[in-house]
Amino acid sequence: MTEPATRVSQLRQQLQQASYAYYVLDNPIMEDSVYDQLYRELQTLEEDYPELISPDSPTQRVGEKPASQFQSVNHRIPLYSLENAFNIEELQQWQERWQRVIPNDSPLKVQEPAEYVAELKIDGSAIALTYENGVLVRGVTRGDGITGEEITQNIKTIRSIPLRLNLDHPPAWVEVRGEAFLPLDEFNRINQEREAQGESLFANPRNAAAGTLRQLDSKVVHNRRLQFFAYTLHLPNDDTAIATQWQALEYLKQLGFLVNPHCQLCPTLETVAEYYEDWEGARQRLTYMTDGVVVKLNSYTLQQELGFTQKFPRWAIALKYPAEEAPTVVKEILVNVGRTGAVTPLAVMEPVQLAGTTVQRATLHNQDRIKELDIRIGDTVIIRKAGEIIPEVVRVLKELRPTDSVPYEMPTQCPECHSTLVRSSGEAAIRCVNRSCPGILRESLIHWASRDALDIRGLGEKIVILLLKNHLIQSLDGLYRLEWEQLVDLDKMGEKSAQKLINSIQKSKEQPWSRVLYGLGIRYVGSVNAKTLTKSFPTVEQLSQATVPQLSGVYGIGEEIAQSVFDWFRNDSNLALIEQLKAIGLQFSAISGNFPVTSGSALLAGKTFVLTGTLPTLSRSEAQSLIEQAGGKVTSSVSKKTDYVVVGEEAGSKLEKAQKLNIALLNETELLAMLNQSSA
Ligand code: IVH
Repeated sequence: MTEPATRVSQLRQQLQQASYAYYVLDNPIMEDSVYDQLYRELQTLEEDYPELISPDSPTQRVGEKPASQFQSVNHRIPLYSLENAFNIEELQQWQERWQRVIPNDSPLKVQEPAEYVAELKIDGSAIALTYENGVLVRGVTRGDGITGEEITQNIKTIRSIPLRLNLDHPPAWVEVRGEAFLPLDEFNRINQEREAQGESLFANPRNAAAGTLRQLDSKVVHNRRLQFFAYTLHLPNDDTAIATQWQALEYLKQLGFLVNPHCQLCPTLETVAEYYEDWEGARQRLTYMTDGVVVKLNSYTLQQELGFTQKFPRWAIALKYPAEEAPTVVKEILVNVGRTGAVTPLAVMEPVQLAGTTVQRATLHNQDRIKELDIRIGDTVIIRKAGEIIPEVVRVLKELRPTDSVPYEMPTQCPECHSTLVRSSGEAAIRCVNRSCPGILRESLIHWASRDALDIRGLGEKIVILLLKNHLIQSLDGLYRLEWEQLVDLDKMGEKSAQKLINSIQKSKEQPWSRVLYGLGIRYVGSVNAKTLTKSFPTVEQLSQATVPQLSGVYGIGEEIAQSVFDWFRNDSNLALIEQLKAIGLQFSAISGNFPVTSGSALLAGKTFVLTGTLPTLSRSEAQSLIEQAGGKVTSSVSKKTDYVVVGEEAGSKLEKAQKLNIALLNETELLAMLNQSSA
């Protein structure tokens, strides 16, 4: 454990650097959410150890001095920032806090619940606009809240900001505040352009907006489509026409400003909570970034009564959405073997909350990435949720690195089978090339059983590991030879689960060819590519004989995928695996409509069938007519005379009876195989 005093000084240094980079250099080194968390950690430490508080702590001031290229301007009214809440509970605590500030004998002591205005917290840059006699005279950045930079020329390029207010008799001055931001498509466009020109990329739309506003050349600003949502209004003191935030928003619209259309007047805090919850998902579909909800007391009288703390208004709070980036400490670096043999390093970290879930592992991708990051055990790192599921390490905070740390070296041997790892030229990954590596088998089995592949319910990672540990399977096809007796005695398995597992393994034989292909785990063949390929190559024979140009000729299949599929089918052990799986009864062709049409087949002649449950692809009448065309007979109830019962999903009493009478059971695949034979 680091000493509190040491940690406090480390954090201060880090936060100070971050805020210097952000406010003075305009070159941020840290995500807002990361800053928030480090800041909170410092706050908590200072609360626990008040003797450590010093006047130069970042918690003791509002912000850094602004950079000096633009003219510095004092704000008429300070631009406060907002206190943060991170969940509904903290929102409620805020309500209790502000309610306590109102004296008991005050006429404002609210009888009824107070009204709030909920606004989306736009992730941009706050700016203050001054209009004198209705004309825009000044646009100023927030700066440190007291002093900002005059960027009027740049502001004027924002089309949604009126240069003249829509008023016949404008007051002497009006101050409007709001958020300047870059819509996501514009942000992407700018970054693409910068990439093409070899310039460094903006980390996020907020940095891009801030950077753009502080461009000295307003032509550059003009070419970037900045946007502006207005959210506060200040009028000279004698003007009392506006009494609430809601009225202010309405008035701003009248004056000619763009107000975010999703602002909502909320009669209670519960309504605010609903708004917050509704927008957590919905905000993903907006064309601009939001990072929370700003909650404001609607009544100006209440706002004035409550006033401000040193830094924040008491009458407003920012209710933030869970961070998508967070700092944590690396405890260990492990390597994992994937189903293709690729060895992936991953960081095991102190658990941390990220976008609503607890995270303690992050991928480090490959050896090159480790070198690039220079990540070491003991490092404080920033992790981010990339896309949907797997978090990754984006940055190492080297300033917080333990002095005795050593660079990390990738292992040269497979962590599972200890064979020497191989790095092919032109590849970032290093691989285990041992075909019987238990790690590869484990991952192949997990993938085979996964939802989009063969969807074998009950065969998750834990059971796979258990099966391998007990030496019950040596290869993929071994799965289909498992017997109930082998499973019952396994750890926590029990009779019922064992039977269920056997059933779902057997049932997976009915899964279509496209899922089987995906399940084989060929590099680059995801479930979408698998479907595409099986449409063009309806049988495994066709696919395995296809040339690279034939494969890449399929719409959606690129050169890399084509080569990977081609190579896979040139490997003898893969071909042997297919033969084994075929013999077991898995689907290696897409049976679509062209069922065998023959009459009086010797094989089915005189045989009696009963159909029960829903079959995966055939309707009951289709199945019946196929059986009949092949010379068989279909009856409705099971008796000793029945030869086969064809069983589908949710089979009922007929199945039970068949089992009692020991009648042969068929699934759709087996029935079709039988029909195919009889028509051959
Ligand atoms: S009101 C005194 N309303 O959030 C109240 N701020 O974390 C001042 N922001 O500096 C802010 N959307 O840049 C307000 N609808 C909104 C906002 C908003 C985004 C930003 C603003 C402010 C920061 C505070």
